[in-house]
Amino acid sequence: MKKILVTGSSGLIGSEVCLHFAAEGWTIHGVDNNQRAVFFGPKGDTRWNQHRLAENIKSFVHHEHDIRDRQGLVDLLKEVRPDAIVHAAAQPSHDLAASIPFADFDTNAVGTLNMLEAARQAAPEAPFVSMSTNKVYGDAPNELALTELETRWEYADEAYWMGISEGFRIDQSKHSIFGASKVAADVMAQEYGRYFGMPTCALRGGCLTGPRHSGVELHGFLSYLIKCNLTETKYYVYGYKGKQVRDNIHALDVAHFIAAFIAVPRAGEVYNIGGGRANSCSILEAFARIADISGHKMVYEYVDRNRSGDHICYISDLRKMKAHYPSWGITKSLDDIFQEVYDSWASRVPEFEALSVA
Ligand SMILES: NC(=O)c1ccc[n+]([C@@H]2O[C@H](COP(=O)([O-])OP(=O)(O)OC[C@H]3O[C@@H](n4cnc5c(N)ncnc54)[C@H](O)[C@@H]3O)[C@@H](O)[C@H]2O)c1
Repeated sequence: MKKILVTGSSGLIGSEVCLHFAAEGWTIHGVDNNQRAVFFGPKGDTRWNQHRLAENIKSFVHHEHDIRDRQGLVDLLKEVRPDAIVHAAAQPSHDLAASIPFADFDTNAVGTLNMLEAARQAAPEAPFVSMSTNKVYGDAPNELALTELETRWEYADEAYWMGISEGFRIDQSKHSIFGASKVAADVMAQEYGRYFGMPTCALRGGCLTGPRHSGVELHGFLSYLIKCNLTETKYYVYGYKGKQVRDNIHALDVAHFIAAFIAVPRAGEVYNIGGGRANSCSILEAFARIADISGHKMVYEYVDRNRSGDHICYISDLRKMKAHYPSWGITKSLDDIFQEVYDSWASRVPEFEALSVA
């Protein structure tokens, strides 16, 4: 039986990867210490998801490890000797990082190096997928000429119609503290491929979402937005007239790509992974969509100050992924994503039961 080791296994992406590989007959080793509850408080707690994995996956082994514990990871990887590694543990918030720069860098940059080096010592042949982010491009995408439409910003130059590709520059722009720590991790993952020849890749995520996201105000925009709609909680829109565009990808489609890479790995690659143009929406468009599903008008307040370094319009160009892995494609539409996230919040939180569920 093949073994996969997944860090951040209780989180959105990690848990989806665990379920996917379990269904393929792999033994699953999850590494997660519920640090998300430390970062975001009880609302960010991911224990519920860990318990779900333990209940649903017979072969699931949970390791309550901190990825900052360097020697602990070497020992763990030597004990498990995985056939594949997915590194999805992170401090994931752009905004939170500024108040916890050391915890952010220790987790994102050093934690990734810890994982890469443990893999080099214990399982150098194992495909290694490292989750990165589109924040590695900093706010450089905001330099592109944009056209203002009624409900969204749009690229003025048709050359960007398919979105931002992996060749876009990553330096000399504002990244946020989070974006900078992720740049270090992203380049290090590439380096372990290029320098040591390990089968690594960095996946630069757009908005990754799905029913198992524990969305909070500081991370997981769509999940949080839908939760706010359901609970009739005020949502704050920061700048850009609410027309900022995000491309949204369901965690299942991320897991499918990870599986495709692990089946036929390459060394030192980067891919922009998001929902692409078809799954893009602005905040205003998201409000209208969720109101259609729930019947509740979005309660929101506009703050005329954008989040520092926030993208105005970001769409991932998926062409490199499709060229390298032609069998991969988006299977979950924006409609599917909204409905699933809505249904999940409706069933997850008991106080939502009183509200009408479509
Ligand atoms: N969700 C998104 O929109 C998005 C977008 C771009 C990139 N990404 C990246 O994808 C990856 C996965 O994101 P996600 O949305 O699944 O995040 P998540 O917060 O849902 O899951 C991350 C998990 O890692 C765990 N973790 C954090 N620090 C840890 C530590 N020191 N030791 C052990 N476990 C630890 C947390 O407890 C959590 O369960 C991250 O690298 C993130 O930066 C996510």
